[in-house]
Amino acid sequence: MSTLIRNGTVVTSTKTFHADILIEGEQIKDIAPAIPVEKAHRVIEATGMLLLPGGIDVHTHLDMPFGGTTSSDDFETGTKAAAFGGTTTLIDFAIQPKGTKMRDALDTWWKKAENKASIDYGLHMIVTDLGECGLEDMDDMVKEGVASFKLFMAYPGVLMVDDATIFQALSRTAKNGALICLHAENGGIIDVIVKRAISEGKTAPIYHGLTRPVAAEAEAVHRAIAMSEISGAPVYIVHLSSEEALNEVRAARDRGVPIFAETCPQYLLLSIDDLARPGFEGAKYVFTPPLREKHNQPKLWDGLKDDHLQVVSTDHCPFCFEDQKILGKDDFTKIPNGGPGVENRLQLLYHHGVSAGKISLNRFVELVSTTPARLFGLYPRKGELAAGSDADIVIWDPNAEHLISSKTHHMRCDYSMFEGFQVKGNAHVVLSRGEVIVEQGKFQGRTGRGSFLRREARGGAWK
Ligand code: URP
Ligand code: ZN
Ligand code: ZN
Repeated sequence: MSTLIRNGTVVTSTKTFHADILIEGEQIKDIAPAIPVEKAHRVIEATGMLLLPGGIDVHTHLDMPFGGTTSSDDFETGTKAAAFGGTTTLIDFAIQPKGTKMRDALDTWWKKAENKASIDYGLHMIVTDLGECGLEDMDDMVKEGVASFKLFMAYPGVLMVDDATIFQALSRTAKNGALICLHAENGGIIDVIVKRAISEGKTAPIYHGLTRPVAAEAEAVHRAIAMSEISGAPVYIVHLSSEEALNEVRAARDRGVPIFAETCPQYLLLSIDDLARPGFEGAKYVFTPPLREKHNQPKLWDGLKDDHLQVVSTDHCPFCFEDQKILGKDDFTKIPNGGPGVENRLQLLYHHGVSAGKISLNRFVELVSTTPARLFGLYPRKGELAAGSDADIVIWDPNAEHLISSKTHHMRCDYSMFEGFQVKGNAHVVLSRGEVIVEQGKFQGRTGRGSFLRREARGGAWK
């Protein structure tokens, strides 16, 4: 089966040009002006459209047990919602519960995903415990294509590990070439502040934000950088939320330390004012790190433009308001941490970033697709429009008007963090490995068609 996408504007991380794209089977065969239509079984007309490499969201939590419940999107609903928003690959997190083997966690997550995912997916491994043979297990994971690990500097007693564990893991990845992702917040300090707040009767959602100071994030980022320097291994900071933390990353990168960082649309567009919404509404915005003061937003946008931040992911971790967020009605510490976002990343970044003049179109592609592919061992199979790459292509309508709302979104969540946001620019047709999976607002894919992606450990090839 061959498909010709005609008369579009191809946008990569480095170039913008008018061309046709010929797809043969699952891959791109050719990109050139005026490819003869006779060459294709099917022709898709793309005049006025942008042709982007499929979005890659490297930070999602589907079907994840957390905070006494489980995130509400599983691999079926979450990958479908991602596809509607122009994301054709995601990397989710398997969790190694303390005292168990990473191998078992990997099997558990494979079972969650297989027969459900409608787009391709990879897995990171969350390491909670190195035990006797955790370092050897990390090597085994890399051989299985799990080329990245997440470790937590926060959530004591649940997911947090100590510096010795992080340092040992880093020292291992310095050798096996995998990438360590860190949730950088000083969990010990935050825990003390949280307990103090609760003992003072401060139980409303806003205290989630007020008990997790910016300095606790900046300090952890600083420590992460020091550990990267000592071990010689790169570090990827997930969901960076504040100017102070960004300053740490910038200073380290300026010194040549291989530090990479992502932020998420919620930190670019929402603020602690949302956590302070009346009644229990603020619970919709309880995730970690918390939303910050508004003055952080332009700094994060500048960070994206100037390459102090390299990736925009979503940290998609949805919990329904009515029956999950409500668990913390009388105590903010019991509100499951996380929010829905996998469907809206490209729409929000395009509208508020590209159209608002904060980032270029090519930088947009770099942030949502190409750099995620490069950092996480998928490039050039994913994240690129070129002959030989997978035909994961978003036909993007730059003029499509879209109102973001839980009434119309496809995520299994009864609210939207971006309810009422009006955006211009949306995915018109989405192809995954040559197959149309979304067409003008209709899902045309197939549950279970998504493949597990064995990712390459990149060694020193990031710089
Ligand atoms: O609140 C969040 N971010 N929930 C998901 C887990 C994590 O820390 O990434
Ligand atoms: Zn995290
Ligand atoms: Zn997360």
